[in-house]
Amino acid sequence: MITLNQVRKNPQVEEFIKQSANSLTFEGYTDHGLSHLDLVADRARNIAKEIGLSPREQELSAIAAFCHDMGNFLSRTNHHYFGALLFQQVFGNTFEPGDVSLIMQAIANHDKKEMKFCNKISAVVVLADKSDVRRSRVLEKKLDHIKLDIHDRVNYATTMSKLGVNKKSKVISLVLKIDTGFVPVIEYFEIFTERMVYCREAAQSLGYKFGLVINNFKLL
Ligand SMILES: [Fe+2]
Ligand SMILES: [Fe+2]
Repeated sequence: MITLNQVRKNPQVEEFIKQSANSLTFEGYTDHGLSHLDLVADRARNIAKEIGLSPREQELSAIAAFCHDMGNFLSRTNHHYFGALLFQQVFGNTFEPGDVSLIMQAIANHDKKEMKFCNKISAVVVLADKSDVRRSRVLEKKLDHIKLDIHDRVNYATTMSKLGVNKKSKVISLVLKIDTGFVPVIEYFEIFTERMVYCREAAQSLGYKFGLVINNFKLL
C-alpha cells in the first residue's frame, strides 16, 4: 500500500502544492501550503486513529488530507474537483482503484455545497481542514495590513488551537485561545460559523458530537 511519505515526495504533487500556495498567497489568502497540509494530514491521521478506523483508512485519510488543496492553482472556486481529478491522474495507476476513488471523493467533498460524508475519510478530512485556524496561517504581513482583513485578523488572534477526540464521551473538540485584545470573538463567528457547522455535521456522521471551546468557554 502506498503511504503518505511516498505521496509527499512525488515531484508532480510537490509542484501542484507549490503552485497552489503561490497563487493563493498572491490573492492574499492565509497559508494553504505545506504547513497547512502537514497539519491537516496529521490531524486527519490522528482523528482516524482515535475513532478506530483501520491502519489503511488512517493512511488514506492522511493522504487525502495532504492533497486536499492541491487543485487551487487551477481554480479557487472549483479547487476541490480539480484536486480530486489531479490525484487520479498522478496516482491512478499506482493505487488500488478503490483507494483512488475514496481519496478522490474525500478531496472533492471537502468544500462548499459538495460537502457530504458518504465515507468516513471525507468526514475526517473536513474536521481536520476546517479546524485549522492559527496565527502562523497569516503569511508575512505587517500588523497594519493584518488588521484590514478579517481572515487575517482572526487567524492572527488565535494563539492556540488544538483538536482532540474524547472516545468515552464521543466528542471531537476544537479548543482555541483567541486574543480578544486583537479581535472580539464575534469576528470568529462572522467568518467561521459555516465551518463550525461543517465540523458538526462531519462529527455527527462519525457518531460523535462536535465541541468548540474558546478561551475556556464551552460554546458548543
Ligand atoms: Fe480547500
Ligand atoms: Fe484546506
